[in-house]
Amino acid sequence: QERSSFLIVANRLPVDRVGESEWRRSPGGLVTAIAPVMQRRDGAWLGWHGAADEKLEPFDYDGMHLIPIPLSALEVERYYEGFSNATLWPLYHDVVATPVYSRVLWDAYRRVNERFAQAAAEAADEGAVVWVQDYQLQLVPAMLRRLRPDLRIGFFLHIPFPPAELFCQLPWRREILEGLLGADLVGFQRPGGASNFIRLSRRLLGLPHQKNEIHVDGRVVRAQAFPISVDFGEYDNLVRRPEVIARAKEIRAELGDPDHVLLGVDRLDYTKGIGQRLKAFGELLAEGTIQPGEAVFVQIATPSRERVEEYRRLRNDIELSVGRINGEHGILGMQPVQYLHQSYTRQELAALYLAADVMVVTPLRDGMNLVAKEYIACHHDLRGALVLSEFAGAADELKHAFLVNPYDVDGLKRAMVAGMRATPHELARRMRFLRRRVSTYDVNRWAGEFLSALERPSTVQPLAS
Ligand code: UDP
Ligand code: G6P
Repeated sequence: QERSSFLIVANRLPVDRVGESEWRRSPGGLVTAIAPVMQRRDGAWLGWHGAADEKLEPFDYDGMHLIPIPLSALEVERYYEGFSNATLWPLYHDVVATPVYSRVLWDAYRRVNERFAQAAAEAADEGAVVWVQDYQLQLVPAMLRRLRPDLRIGFFLHIPFPPAELFCQLPWRREILEGLLGADLVGFQRPGGASNFIRLSRRLLGLPHQKNEIHVDGRVVRAQAFPISVDFGEYDNLVRRPEVIARAKEIRAELGDPDHVLLGVDRLDYTKGIGQRLKAFGELLAEGTIQPGEAVFVQIATPSRERVEEYRRLRNDIELSVGRINGEHGILGMQPVQYLHQSYTRQELAALYLAADVMVVTPLRDGMNLVAKEYIACHHDLRGALVLSEFAGAADELKHAFLVNPYDVDGLKRAMVAGMRATPHELARRMRFLRRRVSTYDVNRWAGEFLSALERPSTVQPLAS
């Protein structure tokens, strides 16, 4: 096997196996962010290809070299659906759903992390840079360091890192923390994540730190925030293409040319606050603040983690409330909520973003939220309002959005109405600020800053352990 000097290690590859020989882009923000970074660099991406019990050879796809890591059906159930998405995901998102703690799931998580570490150790050249991604692989940094002390190891967490009070529920909190501390640099979305991590290292393991550098085993581990972003240029170019502009017009026409198109684009996930925004929209209709036909709410809810119990329940709840709203407020040939449980291409999404007057992003907790940034990248016309939850990482940077607390239904209603009724001048003023931020801090800058921090040696003298 050829060895690489730069490796991405993530649970997912950028594409999923469908059927015998077809590929489809994998869902989620991690892939959106890492794919353009990888396309600009030589190296390899190790990850799972989305199918169970299937071993595949390394291959090239869309300018990237991909190395598939196999998972058995039982591992998909225990490591991916179980420990990753029924334990860590809810715990790290402020326990908005109740985490499942099970030793069987933990064992599978450990074993699969070992496999990823082993594969990375085999694929990495002498002194290579290895960049491990996200909560599914938190044990990999330490495991990999044990196998290959010559490597430069970075880790980036795409989701929030919780405060110690929540993290400490985890029966395997020590192991996870030690796993992360195997990296040279641990990156977070927000400064609060980095400080939670530093505080936890002291509280749980008694590790001293100077500013953002933690002393462990005679090494120095840096913890720092690097807010992730989107490929601004890609979306900015897409919405200037005649076929995308035509498609945006067509979408509005298909919706019956309402005065206001509101849009939500999310994986169908309980962290996204989809129920809260539907409730607010339903109340606006019920009170007569908006008339049916005047506004349409398009909610794209991409299928996600469908075998996990909480996700099934969520789907039922959401579909019930969509049905209720449309039943009560629809008129023949016109449904106020257009709900689509499907996955869309970037080009179709760009047309939707362009067509939408109000983008509604209301997560109860979100690491960053790239949809919000994509909407901004699509509005060089300076039209459009962004309603954004203050609990999304993106709210740190996007202060000129209509910021909301998604738990406050009245506040949510006010923000949606403000977005619909704002003057073009006011929208342009806000959008200019928003675009300045997202165009300067795009995903290439994010990756560049992380990787140069990873390559820069620490200026702090390690304390003897
Ligand atoms: N996305 C997509 N097709 C869809 C729905 C979403 O390609 O049908 C993309 C979307 O453009 C964005 C990503 O999925 O880049 C979602 O990232 P975000 O950070 O908003 O949320 P996550 O899914 O990572 O929690
Ligand atoms: C979030 C996570 C990613 C994950 C994505 C899609 O963005 O941070 O690690 O890949 O959601 O979820 P999935 O479970 O389908 O990979």
